[in-house]
This record gives sequence, C-alpha cells and structure tokens, in this order.
Amino acid sequence: MLKFFSRKKESTSSLIDKSNERHTPKFHKLVVSDVRRETTDCVSVAFDLPADVENFYHFKPGQYVTLRTTLNGEDVRRSYSICSSPFDGELRVAIKRVEGGVFSTYANTELKEGMELDVMTPIGNFTTEFVADRPKQYVAIAAGSGITPVMSLIKTALKTEPESKFILIYGNRNSASVIFKDEIEDLKDAYMNRLEVHHVLSREDQGSDLMKGRLDEAKVKAFADKFFDLDQTEAYFLCGPEEIIHASEKALADLGVPKSKVHFELFTSSAETTNKPQSADTSAATGDILSSVTVILDGDETHMEVSTKGKTIIDSALDAGADVPYACKGAVCCTCRAKVLEGTVQMEMNYALTDEEVEEGYILTCQSHPTSEKVVVSYDE
Ligand code: FES
Repeated sequence: MLKFFSRKKESTSSLIDKSNERHTPKFHKLVVSDVRRETTDCVSVAFDLPADVENFYHFKPGQYVTLRTTLNGEDVRRSYSICSSPFDGELRVAIKRVEGGVFSTYANTELKEGMELDVMTPIGNFTTEFVADRPKQYVAIAAGSGITPVMSLIKTALKTEPESKFILIYGNRNSASVIFKDEIEDLKDAYMNRLEVHHVLSREDQGSDLMKGRLDEAKVKAFADKFFDLDQTEAYFLCGPEEIIHASEKALADLGVPKSKVHFELFTSSAETTNKPQSADTSAATGDILSSVTVILDGDETHMEVSTKGKTIIDSALDAGADVPYACKGAVCCTCRAKVLEGTVQMEMNYALTDEEVEEGYILTCQSHPTSEKVVVSYDE
C-alpha cells in the first residue's frame, strides 16, 4: 500500500496568501522537487521555491497554477489545482492522466525530480477565508481529480478553525481510483470527529445504496438529508465534471441553500453544453465592427485592430506579440482575466468569473470579442 506521508517535506514556513489583491499571473522556471505516484493514473508534483521567488507563490487553498513546457516543439500549458495546504509549506499539484492528454501523459510517464517547468503564479476563486471565530460546517462534493483543490481546503479549514467540521462526499469509479485515499484516512485519524468522509463508488458495492452509483441530484439530496446541517453550513465546494457540479448545484438550490454559499470549480467543460454558462455582453451591437483594441500588461500597451466576428482579444494580442497570460482558452481557468477600462465586448462563455467580477467589468479575454469601435482592457487591474 502506498504511504503518502513518507516523503513529505518538513515545512518551516507557511505559503498562505493573506492579501486580497489579485496579481497579474506570471511564469517562473521552477525545479521539480518531487514526483509522487498517487494512483495508477495520477501523480502529484512538488516544486522547489527559491527565496527570490517564494513570495510570488503564496496561495489561498483551492487555487491552481498553470504549468508550461515545450513538447514535440509545441508550447503546451495546462492548469492544475494545488493539493497542498499553504500550511504544508509546499507547492504541490496533482496531475491525473487523461486519455490523449499530452501534458498529463508526459507528467505521468516522463516528468522526474530535478526537471524544470514554467509554473505560473497561483490564482483562482475556488476558495474562502477560514477564520476561527465560531464552530462552522463545510461541505465538499468532489468527483475524481476534483478532490485536488478540496484537499487543500480541507487541510486548511481543519487547521485554521479548531471547532469547525468538514464533510466530504467523494465520488469515484472504485476504491483503486480514489486519489489521496491514504492521506484522507490519515486526516480522518488526525481530526477525529471533525472530518467526515463518504466515498461514493459507481462500480463497487459498499453494501449501501447511498454509497453506490453516481453523484446525481437525488443522491446529493439524500446525503444532505442524512448528514448536512443546512443552517450551520458556511460554504459548499463542488469540484469535478460539469454534470456533477450542475446536479449538486440544483440539489442545493432546491434545498434553499443561497447561491452565495456555493463555490464551484469545473474540471472539464463541454463545448456542447446544454446548460450554457453566463456570458457577458456589454453592448447591443450584433454586427461586425473593426475595433481599435488596446491591451495593457505590466503597464505596457499593445494596440491592434480586431473585428467583432474575428479572433478573440487574447488571440489577437498574442498575434501582436503581447505575452498575455492564458491556459485553457476554454472559459474554465480564469488565467486570461482582464478588466474592460473602455468600450464594450461580448464574452462567449464563462465558467470561471464570479457574478461580482462580471459586474465590475472583468472578462475572460479568451472568450471576448470587441463590440465597440474602441476597447481598452487591462490585465493589471
Ligand atoms: S485561458 Fe482559461 S479561461 Fe481564458
């Protein structure tokens, strides 16, 4: 049996990010300090943080980093959630191999201690501030590799709030595919009575109907009925495939849980989604306009002409030579976030920005097209 804590680095410092400022994401070259096999198709990867860059890698639990390298001559970048807690004093991500996945296959088969990767500074909204002011309950519903940011949230909540409780509902195919199985058991031992874990397996019988099958709306409601104290629950964290997030959101909404208490992180997005996420259209324009677009990054301006029905703002900026940040280009990761300072844009999809961010004028530049003659967006805001 794998023992997960056997090679754990002794931490001397916390990497907790206490600021409320969001910095512009930046890549730094970091050396891989450890590659640990978690399951047959998942590794976790830790990085050395030299003193001159460590400050840039302070993070909040639930955030992620984008990794970049060149494979077969192509620039490949993918975002992965941080599974360590800031209190572990370690930056570690989990990478599950996906079928046909170029980066995840590389990480699971070739990546070794001592190799270098470009690692973007941590970002992400799938977090909350843990404060030890009163006993609270937190609930996470995760599936597959969706456990990754949840691990960081659980460890941070239990350490920061000594009177609070965390309930994890974790869906997988079978017990062999449970990522962090031993670490979860160790946490249960360390935080007896404060961490409650329910494994739901779709292809393995655990002797209970509730624990068998897929995490759907009915199952989430059944768990809530049996185990959640809806009034005491401070926040819900949903992480995994789109259908599980939607089913859980719907179940919680039906139970009267306010939307503000529900945080979610989508791990894959379906282009053919029937439940299209919110889009932002800051104008009534529908025709094609050739717009004069300025992007600001680190105080530098890049100017270009972009048509409403042409390339996105980020692709136009990359064509123009600006080193603007991106990862998924699929409306999921939020790495390409910028603020509209002037003009209007239309955003095709958004799985990543909060309602508040959209109201404040933030956009995903990988999804945005200009709809006014002049547009200015800034990555520095
Ligand atoms: S690059 Fe991921 S949301 Fe735009």
